[in-house]
Amino acid sequence: MKSSPTSPTILSLLDFQNLNSAQIFSFIQTALDLKKRQAQAGRFLEKQTILGTGALLFFEPSTRTRFSFETACIRAGVAPLIMDNLAGSSLEKGESIEDTILNLEAMGPLFFVVRCSDQTELREISEKLKTPVINAGWGKKSHPTQALLDATTLFERWGDLRDKNILFVGDVLHSRVFSSHVELSKILGYRLGYCAPTEFGLGEFESLKAGIKSFDQIRHALEWADAVITLRVQKERHDSISGATNEDYRQRYGLNLERAKLLKPSAVILHPGPINYGVEIEKNLLKDSRSVILQLVENGVFIREVLIKSIISGEI
Ligand code: CP
Repeated sequence: MKSSPTSPTILSLLDFQNLNSAQIFSFIQTALDLKKRQAQAGRFLEKQTILGTGALLFFEPSTRTRFSFETACIRAGVAPLIMDNLAGSSLEKGESIEDTILNLEAMGPLFFVVRCSDQTELREISEKLKTPVINAGWGKKSHPTQALLDATTLFERWGDLRDKNILFVGDVLHSRVFSSHVELSKILGYRLGYCAPTEFGLGEFESLKAGIKSFDQIRHALEWADAVITLRVQKERHDSISGATNEDYRQRYGLNLERAKLLKPSAVILHPGPINYGVEIEKNLLKDSRSVILQLVENGVFIREVLIKSIISGEI
């Protein structure tokens, strides 16, 4: 597959290490063009011919990412073959994830989309394959397509991302979305900050090392932000039970109508989902004109469609 700034092609997408800013901006622009053409046509622009299959393997739960990739496959002319958790597969009989993927590769999918835990050696497995792998959320490590759909939505709003201040509020330590933004921000040139309880932050030294601004006061953090990404407390990834209750968290860090007044009128409110309404964010903020929470989900399909097309054909 050839590769150039205007016609980016990628082999696997486990993270952003093989992509430059021109390629990523091209993906974003192509996704937004596709969205516009689709709106003008008043219908989905699905391909009528089936080009092949895509194996969508979700070894951890998902709603948005799974359906988003499934929709993107159909729009790109790829028949999605889906494995959900262990149920009904030979994983229940003790087959490993690696062996599962090697056997599925023998059936000739065009690509894999994989969601898995930190314990899965996804990079090592992908290196044994000839088939590209798209990371659909890998433990705490990374979730590159979520970061890309966030960036697409912010680019759609601002027309650029350079020198913008993007604030995370909440459990950055266990957030794969945050990790992927740390990587993407260095490529696309936006600044990151966070405000979190001590046990969910990076620690002073790590923050400084990574060039990420850390805020003790939610008020100062919100005033600084051009966009705020509120995060769910990832209890399922904590080694021990956190002492803080949902009510403590809501009072100290929850985004509510009062706190949202501290944001700039032009600020943008994001959440990757799933949301614990009334904990990290109040439900009525969905109606705030600055909220793009469902637009993120809409744009996720377009950027994933573009990535899939790029992987299978190099057309764009
Ligand atoms: N944002 C996200 O990854 O959501 P799901 O876990 O529902 O896929």
